[in-house]
Amino acid sequence: MSKILIKGGKRLEGEINLQGAKNSVLPILAGTLLCNDKCIIHNCPNIADVETSIKILEALGCVCEMEDKTLTVDPRNAFGFQIPDDLMREMRSSVVFLGAIIGKTSKAVISSPGGCELGPRPIDLHLSALKKMGVTVTEEHGFLYCEAKKGPVGTEITLGFPSVGATENIILTAVKAKGLTIIHNAAKEPEISDLADFLNSAGARIYGGGSDTVYIHGVDTLRGTEHTIIPDRIVAATYMACCAVTGGELVLKGAMPSHITSILSVFRDSGCDVRVSGKTLKVNAKNKILRVPTIRSLVYPGFPTDAGPVIIAMLCKAKGTSVFVENIFENRFRYADELKRLGAKIETQGKIAVIEGVDNLSGATCKCTDLRGGAALVTAGLCAKGETVIDEIYHIQRGYDDIVNTLRNVGADIQYI
Ligand code: UD1
Repeated sequence: MSKILIKGGKRLEGEINLQGAKNSVLPILAGTLLCNDKCIIHNCPNIADVETSIKILEALGCVCEMEDKTLTVDPRNAFGFQIPDDLMREMRSSVVFLGAIIGKTSKAVISSPGGCELGPRPIDLHLSALKKMGVTVTEEHGFLYCEAKKGPVGTEITLGFPSVGATENIILTAVKAKGLTIIHNAAKEPEISDLADFLNSAGARIYGGGSDTVYIHGVDTLRGTEHTIIPDRIVAATYMACCAVTGGELVLKGAMPSHITSILSVFRDSGCDVRVSGKTLKVNAKNKILRVPTIRSLVYPGFPTDAGPVIIAMLCKAKGTSVFVENIFENRFRYADELKRLGAKIETQGKIAVIEGVDNLSGATCKCTDLRGGAALVTAGLCAKGETVIDEIYHIQRGYDDIVNTLRNVGADIQYI
């Protein structure tokens, strides 16, 4: 199962049930560590990052059981405080376990997450917040040793940038800390609200999760709980883009339209007919894709950086030239060279990509450079003439719950080889 083969040109038509959000489930799984009884997590996507999270939980002493899309985590004997180095390397976002481990055992050892495919991804905001909460942080030989001898203490923190991961780590450290923690300039992404909802259902006292000021009153214990993960906004954007490039008609079920207003507006600008009815999105892309003059990635509720690659793949087939400005990560356009193998006309410089639409893409051999870049290649492959072979698909499997069968069920000619 190391490559994906697509024979492009098939129109997509049918229904897709949206998977649970990767970026929600990871911090929530970290949060289960803080509870004193079993947690049952529904709508848990079957993706490699969840498998890695389960391995981390098990390494720390949890007992995990996945059945269908429901994951039960029993954290009662989880007193480990060190994340194995290989698991840390497998998933950079395992840094979100840091706050939960400190919240539980008052100490943690992890290897420094370092750089990754999107450019340098520092964790200075995470660490300076932890230090303000009374955690000492020592870096030695690539490892971070964190300890709060008397447990973390609530305090007031102003983030220099509303980092998603830092906000999550602070919430997880603060939820059982002594006293009140206030986060100013917190990230407002829906995944933050989902984490707060999960923790509150276990007995936490978090107010303002999903707004720019979050108040966390420390509590002594969290009980076991049951929670359903919100739908994945980026997966929704991906299947909408797949629909658009094939001139298709898709119904996406289980969506949360209020989480994707900036994405919906880009699809409408590009000529797609998108109708919202409750939790259902109907996308009809019978018109030629129009250029979208400028799209800028921004923190929520702005256009999400993670949806950039699939939108750019779609705009490769638009009538006219579009511009995408990437404001969140420094080095996010590596997949553009792979799209060019399929005949895309993209020029990138720094944080800007200029996409000149072409009438047809043509199948080629290409490889994933990162998770969403890989999804962009799938999107492009679906409309490219001939065969596209995509290599290094483990990136895609980190975040998409069986993208191949999902797309095949709505008419794509796609398979693992
Ligand atoms: C999360 C998402 C990722 C998404 C990103 C932005 C998860 C698992 N991942 O990543 O898919 O692309 O939000 O929406 O939820 N920064 C610092 N110092 C820090 C932390 C961040 O300089 O201590 C910078 C980063 O380098 C980056 C920007 O802040 O340029 C955004 O990062 P952040 O919001 O923290 O993203 P992640 O939590 O890593």
